Amino acid sequence: MKIINGLAVFEDGHKSNKPVIFIHGFPFDHTMWQNQVEFLKNNRYCVTYDVRGLGQSDAGDGQYTIESFTDDLLQIVDELKLNKPVLCGLSMGGYIALRAVQREQKRFGGLVLMSTKASQDDNDGKLKRAEGIKKINTQGVEKYVAGMMPNCFCDLTMQEMKEVYDETLNKAVKYNPTGVKGCLLAMAGRLDLESFLMEIEVPALVICGSLDKIVLPGAMREISEKIKDSEFAATPRAGHITPLENPEFINDILSGFLNRRVK
Ligand code: MLT
Repeated sequence: MKIINGLAVFEDGHKSNKPVIFIHGFPFDHTMWQNQVEFLKNNRYCVTYDVRGLGQSDAGDGQYTIESFTDDLLQIVDELKLNKPVLCGLSMGGYIALRAVQREQKRFGGLVLMSTKASQDDNDGKLKRAEGIKKINTQGVEKYVAGMMPNCFCDLTMQEMKEVYDETLNKAVKYNPTGVKGCLLAMAGRLDLESFLMEIEVPALVICGSLDKIVLPGAMREISEKIKDSEFAATPRAGHITPLENPEFINDILSGFLNRRVK
């Protein structure tokens, strides 16, 4: 592990291979990508990190924005001297990846968007963030995480891969409340990037979970249709957290895309 500006950054694979940066969702950490890194690390230089406030990264004062998360990501690209990395972001990680491509499109070799949105929170969404912060303040981060986590996984995962669910939950309940609340505020204040989708020039792969309760598959297909050069895949037997729920499918789709489009 390397610390870059308070962020825990992990490198796997040889630096001479093409880089991929994986950006996890909320409230998770870099281990969300463990299966993909294991699968890809012989051919790709895989960089994962914990978004500020989560996992092993510093929480600091919890005053984050998606903009500051994007600054963090660009700093990792600079520090590691990555040449045209592919960004692969899931949900909150997708918000960061999309904004980074909007800010510095020429620096990236491709974009993978998983179970994410280009739109900003509507009023109901913002109120849900506020409720979340209140719950953390009054009942603690454990109660908040335990309440929202079942929505992130499909029923099949909870029944047949209970150990994956339990492991993810057990990590998340220990996150720093300041960090978790900071992420909620950052997501509530993010930009609307819907119209930017049409301006994406890099090759893109858009992946949904066919049983996702948070981002419906149809919404992900619409994102893909707006991007000029985009492929779309629906992950069977998976909810919101496809890399953990159906890792074999994600590994196949991701490596196929990288091998064909990012040589
Ligand atoms: C995530 O998985 O990152 C969250 O569902 C994103 C969000 O709450 O908007």
